[in-house]
Amino acid sequence: MNPQLTRRRFIKGVIFSGAAATTGTGLYFAANAQSGQSGAERLITLNINGRNRPVDVLPSETLAYTLRYKLDLTGTKIGCNRGECGACTVLIDGVANYSCSVLTHNVKNKAVISIEGVKAADGTLHAVQAAFIAENAPQCGFCTPGQVMSAVALLNRNPRPTKQEAREAMSGNLCRCGAYEHYLNGVLRASGQLA
Ligand code: FES
Ligand code: FES
Repeated sequence: MNPQLTRRRFIKGVIFSGAAATTGTGLYFAANAQSGQSGAERLITLNINGRNRPVDVLPSETLAYTLRYKLDLTGTKIGCNRGECGACTVLIDGVANYSCSVLTHNVKNKAVISIEGVKAADGTLHAVQAAFIAENAPQCGFCTPGQVMSAVALLNRNPRPTKQEAREAMSGNLCRCGAYEHYLNGVLRASGQLA
């Protein structure tokens, strides 16, 4: 391993951009989901992270696929690709959604925020991102972008959730590394309830 690539630097990279290795499974399902479709491509404009992005989108294309493979926003992960794991979570008009289960054509007039759009314009991490680092929440990091998005959505509507409220709000985000307590403590830290 490159000695410069410490664990903490790796975690910061994950938190910042959602950069983590894509599983072969995710690519397999995503590729299959797009195969065999014969509909004509259509140029639409999406509002992603505050920018209007023109993109050709097939009628049955999912938002997760568009983000990753058309717009190069690879921070959004595809794990199960069928609405079970939460790795693909993004905000649509401020609400956390599984982007693998949303058709891109259905968000044409909505504001989409992906993990790349969470930090401030000057690069300052969101409080949730900083808190997850402080709590050493990311282990492999694959679930982390989705965890961040769900936590951001929660704190936007409930700035000081109880631990139980946080647990319920984050229950749609699975973590195969089992770092649930770390993520929950991160939510509490981001809301100012942990020193
Ligand atoms: S990839 Fe969307 S819920 Fe698992
Ligand atoms: S940190 Fe590995 S899946 Fe959650």
